[in-house]
Amino acid sequence: MVAAAGLVGCVGGIDTPNDIPSDPPSGGVGGGGSGPAAVEARRQFESNVYPVVDAKCIACHSSSGPVGNITGFVAPQRSDAYVTAVGYQALIGDWTPTGAPILLKVAAGHNGQTYSADEKTKITSWLSQELAARAGTPPTGGPPASESPADATVRLTKEWSGCMTLANFTAANMKAWGSMRADNSQCQTCHAGGAYGNIALANDDKTFFNVISTNKYYMAQYFSVDLSMGVAAAKVIVNTRSFTAVGGNLAPHTTHPRFTFDKSTGATALAKFYDLTVAAKTAGTCGPSTLAD
Ligand code: HEC
Ligand code: HEC
Repeated sequence: MVAAAGLVGCVGGIDTPNDIPSDPPSGGVGGGGSGPAAVEARRQFESNVYPVVDAKCIACHSSSGPVGNITGFVAPQRSDAYVTAVGYQALIGDWTPTGAPILLKVAAGHNGQTYSADEKTKITSWLSQELAARAGTPPTGGPPASESPADATVRLTKEWSGCMTLANFTAANMKAWGSMRADNSQCQTCHAGGAYGNIALANDDKTFFNVISTNKYYMAQYFSVDLSMGVAAAKVIVNTRSFTAVGGNLAPHTTHPRFTFDKSTGATALAKFYDLTVAAKTAGTCGPSTLAD
């Protein structure tokens, strides 16, 4: 997209108008889709969804100062709104209609507010466009997709939960996440109770494991579904994007205490837990889904 637009600019002197982004920003967890589908997703957010969250969520979830220990996913300015919203894993979840907190909170009448059918449709339609933007084209000659991007995401997440075991979680040393430091504080200082959509515990593997294997939103901070090779080849991957963005202070996490994800004790443990979980899946020793939500 960028290269093509650049070429046109060079040859014909025609530039992409400044107000239409040719690609979504790479910051935060918002990247992962590109091309016209991603441009359309961003347009839908800015035109249809931002007005809803600006009216109904900003009172508590403003990025300029959330009320309490919750995420500030609503930017006061429309120009920052997209990066700020999609940068919060806790808001977008797995992007599916059954796994995106932005929609589920609304559907559940969060904080006693009511939402119109039109507002819900706008959010649902935007989420579906985001998934379409993330679903890559399968390699030529590859099998055609038999599921929608959302169905593949839901199925893989459920399967993955049934493949995770406490024994593997402990063997992989996942407790490293609790004691790992961001600036001078351990992650568990702020995330032991699951605040801000992330959980990390150094001394209680059982609770830590139970939360991420039964609650798909907490699981989503650690693992996500990659659709970029096409829906038929979709698979669970380590969610490096969220931790890299948060630790590296990419927008909207510009004031988060800093940490380096790459080669950290947490990243090493997560890679090991991932490999052990894949091995269980390959060996066919997984149980049924353990997700409670
Ligand atoms: C009156 C204050 C208030 C308003 C308005 C509000 N929320 Fe919340 N929100 C909260 C509180 C308090 C929590 C923590 C408890 C919970 O999860 O319900 C929370 C938690 C959340 C979470 C879980 C992640 C996090 O930030 O901790 C999401 C997602 C969320 N809200 C979405 C929304 C959306 C979407 C809207 C607007 C449609 C909205 N909220 C409006 C107060 C509010
Ligand atoms: C001093 C408190 C504090 C410490 C220590 C801390 N965090 Fe956070 N964390 C926050 C706050 C506040 C937010 C929400 C605002 C933001 O994203 O910057 C957050 C958000 C996050 C999110 C993003 C959730 C989302 O929905 O996208 C992740 C992931 C995260 N932290 C991981 C970590 C890890 C890993 C560590 C340790 C290496 C850590 N945090 C240490 C306070 C903390």
